[in-house]
Amino acid sequence: MATPFNIPATIIVGAGASKKVGEQARRLGVKSALLVTDSYMVSSGLAGRIADYLRRAGVYVTIYSNVQPDPTDLNVMEGLEILRENRCGMVVGLGGGSPMDCAKAISVMSANPQSINLYAGLHKVPNKGVPIITIPTTAGTGAEVTKVVVIGDTTRNVKMMILDLNLMADVALVDYELTMSCPPQLTANVGVDTLVHAVEAYVSVKASPMTDPYALSSIRHVSENLLTAYNEPNNKVAREGMTLASLQAGIAFPNSSVCLVHGMSRPVGALYHVPHGLSNAVLFPAVTEFSISGAYVRYATVSRTMGYATDWDTDKVANEKLVTGLRKLNKDLRIPRLGDVCNVDLTIFDESVLKMAEDSLASGSPGNNPVVPTAEQIVDLYHRAW
Ligand SMILES: NC(=O)c1ccc[n+]([C@@H]2O[C@H](COP(=O)([O-])OP(=O)(O)OC[C@H]3O[C@@H](n4cnc5c(N)ncnc54)[C@H](O)[C@@H]3O)[C@@H](O)[C@H]2O)c1
Ligand SMILES: [Fe+2]
Repeated sequence: MATPFNIPATIIVGAGASKKVGEQARRLGVKSALLVTDSYMVSSGLAGRIADYLRRAGVYVTIYSNVQPDPTDLNVMEGLEILRENRCGMVVGLGGGSPMDCAKAISVMSANPQSINLYAGLHKVPNKGVPIITIPTTAGTGAEVTKVVVIGDTTRNVKMMILDLNLMADVALVDYELTMSCPPQLTANVGVDTLVHAVEAYVSVKASPMTDPYALSSIRHVSENLLTAYNEPNNKVAREGMTLASLQAGIAFPNSSVCLVHGMSRPVGALYHVPHGLSNAVLFPAVTEFSISGAYVRYATVSRTMGYATDWDTDKVANEKLVTGLRKLNKDLRIPRLGDVCNVDLTIFDESVLKMAEDSLASGSPGNNPVVPTAEQIVDLYHRAW
């Protein structure tokens, strides 16, 4: 199937890349920017430094730092109001996926008149908004290079996925030095999110020769660097490797797709307020085991790329080693089980589990999975991950 492949026009990678924000804003012809970020970025001083780089380039800066983890439509509308009040001609998203997604959504809402939930789904955003620069500080969501945002719909209590080329950053500044301060558990959660992006992009029914090399390279970087970045937060080589993994997975998955792990993870996040990477991580081994029969050879390749299986192992053995390897990875990263992260009794969880399965199917992501599940099978998978 002939499908488009989209990435930002400019991606600058490497130590110090974030210092180029001022010159990039000038290149885009912008005089006034809204820096969209969160309170940690302000207290750590990073938001101030990025604002200084902009100001030194002659760009007037307003800071919106009220973005909460897993941002909602309310964050987007608050940021949009500040953008309009201050006549900002661009947004800079600084932080993990939450501020970057919020910035991208504010940009789109600056040029589209309807309520944000009407743009949920695929290719429904008519107009491009103000220019976008993204600066990731986690490794990560890949949101710096994706045409995707995930925004909480506070009216319906669901996480909306919006995919549209108008959400693509004009410039992504990918500077691994900004990730050095991530504490181990954040490194683990977002690192597994990266791995899920890469694996889902690779096994998706929408995988293509343009996305496969990025997905496999990302998986290799995760296998070489995630545990080191987790155990040795100051290890620059591992941080740089994970930043590349995140970037490459971010290039792969929106041009292929995410699948069942993300489909099942969003309702967990929406109902139980579990961080995105963590809700993916707790579901990943069980969903992989369920999905292997639909992409037998590809999952075996994932296992070999992770270093779990060798070239001499049969695909059957490689796939068994993949499930065992992913369970061990979760243990090594101290990732608990679904029941622990939801923090409720199973009986309470079961009251909402069918709605969660239906929301998951409605998001469309499970339809790209190598094995397309029924709602009952999704319920069973939640129980297996419990
Ligand atoms: N747009 C996409 O393509 C895409 C892909 C995957 C996930 N997401 C979304 O991204 C969001 C999750 O993003 P995330 O996992 O990067 O986390 P996040 O942005 O929600 O941040 C989580 C916490 O980590 C802190 N943090 C961030 N960088 C730090 C650093 N360098 N040092 C110390 N603390 C730091 C933040 O201040 C925050 O408290 C979710 O809303 C998810 O749905 C989007
Ligand atoms: Fe994700």
